[in-house]
Amino acid sequence: CGMCVVPTVGVAAADDTITVGFSQVGAESDWRTANTESMKSTFSEENGYNLIFDDAQQKQENQLTAIRNFIQQEVDYIVLAPVTETGWDTVLQEAKDAGIPVIIVDRMVDVSDDSLYTAWVGSNFKLEGQKAMAWLDAYLEAKGRGDEEINLVDIQGTIGASAQIGRTQGFDDAVEAHDNWTTLAQQSGEFTQAKGQEVMESILKQSGDDIDVVYCENDNEAFGAIDAIEAAGYEVGGEEGQILVMSFDTTNAGLTDTLSGKITLDTECNPLHGPRVQEIIEKLEAGEEVDKQAYVDEEMFAADDTVTSIKVDDADYEVTTITQDIID
Ligand code: AHR
Repeated sequence: CGMCVVPTVGVAAADDTITVGFSQVGAESDWRTANTESMKSTFSEENGYNLIFDDAQQKQENQLTAIRNFIQQEVDYIVLAPVTETGWDTVLQEAKDAGIPVIIVDRMVDVSDDSLYTAWVGSNFKLEGQKAMAWLDAYLEAKGRGDEEINLVDIQGTIGASAQIGRTQGFDDAVEAHDNWTTLAQQSGEFTQAKGQEVMESILKQSGDDIDVVYCENDNEAFGAIDAIEAAGYEVGGEEGQILVMSFDTTNAGLTDTLSGKITLDTECNPLHGPRVQEIIEKLEAGEEVDKQAYVDEEMFAADDTVTSIKVDDADYEVTTITQDIID
């Protein structure tokens, strides 16, 4: 009957569910797998969410399609981990027109109008690169190699991704600041182990005997590079005559290679963004203000205690010597 009062307990619970469309870059690295896991476990049904997850396989066009699908499905929030920085203006304007808040996570977007997204949380990739290179400077100095000619290789991430732009910037600025440092090769390994290995193999063929340092822009590239270096008959490590490998992410496997000395420095990039995005959504739901941009604090882990702290722009950063306990 029209006047009947229908019990609403079950219906109310269903209505409280928040639908989140998450466009993920892909599954290119161990870091990415940990990031996906963090998002999926946070935005679970038990936590009151309905997560629509889309893996873009490292292609921006797939992310554009996913976002348009989310808009059509009238999700409550769109969360975007963008593959590259540029090319988002149009689709983010469509989300804004539809009244759907967009939260950017991990890498950044470069848009003409900041109101096209509600909030961003992620890493300071340039600072990561600056810290790593400040460590290299201090490490070589401590080893009595401060005035030696040092030849470096940079295996870059996906070109145009914030993680690549920032880390490459940190690398380039440091090489530029040292008259005795030379970049032998700089090429993208696309943040994958397979490409990292392939790129390293070809660089080794050209200039294997001359390489002192390989700066890998993530752990998976480092795994591939280490395989290539060892297969070519060279040794990895921090001593003279060895090829010193540096990396980013501090995944479990990355820190395990740091403990064994294969990676001499691993700089953290924290993937556990699920709870951070959840906090943003909860605040928005409560009508509270959120920070437009928030950087995550990150550490550095070295194979040994040659350098225990470094400075970037007058700020001090601790370098922790890796132990099995930290990995566990
Ligand atoms: O954007 C974060 C980077 O993307 C991580 O360093 C890398 O492993 C991932 O693929």
